[in-house]
Amino acid sequence: MSHIRSRFNAPAAKPVVEYTSSLPFDKRLYRHDIAGSIAHTKMLAKQAIIPQQDANTIIKYLTSIAGEIEQGKFEFKAELEDIHMAIESRLFELTGEIAGKLHTARSRNDQVALDMRLFTKEAISETVVRLRFLQQSLVELAEENKDVVMPGYTHLQTAQPVLFAHHLLAYFEMFQRDAERFGEALKRTDVMPLGSGALAGVAYDIDRDFVARELGFSQISRNSMDAVSDRDFVIEYLAAASICMMHLSRLAEEVIIWSSAEFGFIELDDAYATGSSIMPQKKNPDVAELARGRVGRTYGNLIALLTTMKALPLSYNRDLQEDKEALFDSVDTLLPSLEVFSGMISSLKIKKENMERAASRDYILATDLADYLVSRGETFRNAHGITARLVSYAAETGKALNRLSLSEYKRFSPLFNKDALAISKSSSVAARNIAGGTAPQQVEKAIDRAKEMIGKSNKGGF
Ligand code: ARG
Repeated sequence: MSHIRSRFNAPAAKPVVEYTSSLPFDKRLYRHDIAGSIAHTKMLAKQAIIPQQDANTIIKYLTSIAGEIEQGKFEFKAELEDIHMAIESRLFELTGEIAGKLHTARSRNDQVALDMRLFTKEAISETVVRLRFLQQSLVELAEENKDVVMPGYTHLQTAQPVLFAHHLLAYFEMFQRDAERFGEALKRTDVMPLGSGALAGVAYDIDRDFVARELGFSQISRNSMDAVSDRDFVIEYLAAASICMMHLSRLAEEVIIWSSAEFGFIELDDAYATGSSIMPQKKNPDVAELARGRVGRTYGNLIALLTTMKALPLSYNRDLQEDKEALFDSVDTLLPSLEVFSGMISSLKIKKENMERAASRDYILATDLADYLVSRGETFRNAHGITARLVSYAAETGKALNRLSLSEYKRFSPLFNKDALAISKSSSVAARNIAGGTAPQQVEKAIDRAKEMIGKSNKGGF
């Protein structure tokens, strides 16, 4: 639109137009931009700043512009700097001079801040919905397999038996915190900046609360200079998205390991696996690998915007235009990742026998034997030493702990009795009947609690 260059004697050089334009990516904000303009126009008329009839015309044509864009009929002209100018210039074509009234008491600086807040609010809601679906898939899989025992690991070395459901619910907790984090970010995103103008506020008797209500914001910004230059709400989304992708990458890693022939704990559904172009036997976990790989982009976007904003003086600076691609890319990375993971988890085939066989190997019950000695009066440190010697004896003789005789046990401590031989992976799991532990009773409760949390969130809570 030429009028913003009225004081210049020459049009911008072509490379400058290309260098400065955000239209190729910010056209994605068209709905938010038009919604903001409609609310602003209604307010201008209500406050008698522009005639009601002009407002009606503007609103009518803004609505039809939205339709044009949706139907792919809108021509995005490269010379128009951004989506705000593109829409306003089309409005001029359709209404003539009336269009010039839309931008009364507004600047692109508060306009773009508004659009970004509207977009981020929507992105947060969609993210939380998808997180809930993923949590639901985890809880369902946990419930369907609530008796399955698997080896728990530390250092990826067999540690103690745990319920597979307990392992899955660990991820439920991570995604719960993620949902809460997005919920927290929403509170600070839900602030309406229009009325801040270019930076100092506007010199018209506008009704900011009306605009906030029209657009579904619960608050208005308190400082115009902050409002046009702050993007920490975007940074919060990017940070929460990075943490969430990091959690997904951990789950991805488990899926990758578990589906290997060496572990054989799960089999991916055909719909969620890929083949190899050369090795016909392969069933590859590419979905999990790509999620693991894409975490990098979300970290990159976070660092990019943090760096863009570092040391930016008040108030608006064009640098801020860099917020958009970072945000869009993280949203476009996270949302589909959450979606495919729900499907992948729901359709996993669990190989119970392999998990349970692995949970019976490798002296996994050594801690339980030490605990047994403690229950018979030994100190834990001594019990640890006795059991360690017993394990190395068993390893030397090539026997599993439950293949040793009672007299062999007694060689290491007179406190061993027949019941020591009855220790099993299920007694081990059942013994950890402590809040947050892996005993079936506890896991049962955790499943119920998880379902309740999902139910609550469906009603709008976190
Ligand atoms: N495309 C710009 C952005 O994304 C819109 C605001 C432009 N404001 C300005 N004063 N040049 O930040």
